[in-house]
Amino acid sequence: MKFFIDTANLNQIKEAQDLGILDGVTTNPSLMAKEGIKGDENIKKHYQTICEIVDGDVSAEVIATDFDGMIKEGETLAALHPQITIKVPVTKEGIKAIKYFSDKGFKTNCTLVFSIGQALLAAKAGATYVSPFIGRLDDISTDGVELIKHIVDMYNYYGFETQVLAASIRHTQHIIQCAEVGADVVTAPLSAITGLLNHPLTDLGLEKFLADYKKLNG
Ligand code: E4P
Repeated sequence: MKFFIDTANLNQIKEAQDLGILDGVTTNPSLMAKEGIKGDENIKKHYQTICEIVDGDVSAEVIATDFDGMIKEGETLAALHPQITIKVPVTKEGIKAIKYFSDKGFKTNCTLVFSIGQALLAAKAGATYVSPFIGRLDDISTDGVELIKHIVDMYNYYGFETQVLAASIRHTQHIIQCAEVGADVVTAPLSAITGLLNHPLTDLGLEKFLADYKKLNG
């Protein structure tokens, strides 16, 4: 399973990269706004900086909602760096744009996916990644992880190559649940990723090992 970090915060991206387990980054307009990145030129520069920090794919989302606008914007984003993946919403225009980009050999991430039907269209259009938003589904009392499982099963059944990228991850347990149902990728906040390390028995065990060492070695 690949690990992406879901942020535009450079310090957190560096920290995850330093851990040695990072496979990529996802951003969206809200995450860019959270970091105060505004203006097209600054946004482009920020994407380039992220690409210089990490080795893997970096999702950059289009703002345009019409086909021509998405193509123009997506091609500009992809030209910024070979690691850029063009992130496109799962609308009628978006599906057309994903098909266009995939025919041209650009990597795409089909975003704002909340149903198996949307995931089916994303795969048919040749998306590299499909991003079901599990936390936002949980927020409306719908099982987000269950959707991941259904999409993974459906893609396996038909042999689609689109990778299931579980997004809108809110906590560590979401990552574990996504691993259990076979998500290809999880994109998560740093705290959810580092949360995987936490276990009280590890802390207690380490404390005892160090204390025993100290008894004999001072
Ligand atoms: C990432 O690709 C998504 O845009 C992101 O995970 C959405 O997360 P949120 O539901 O916490 O905003």
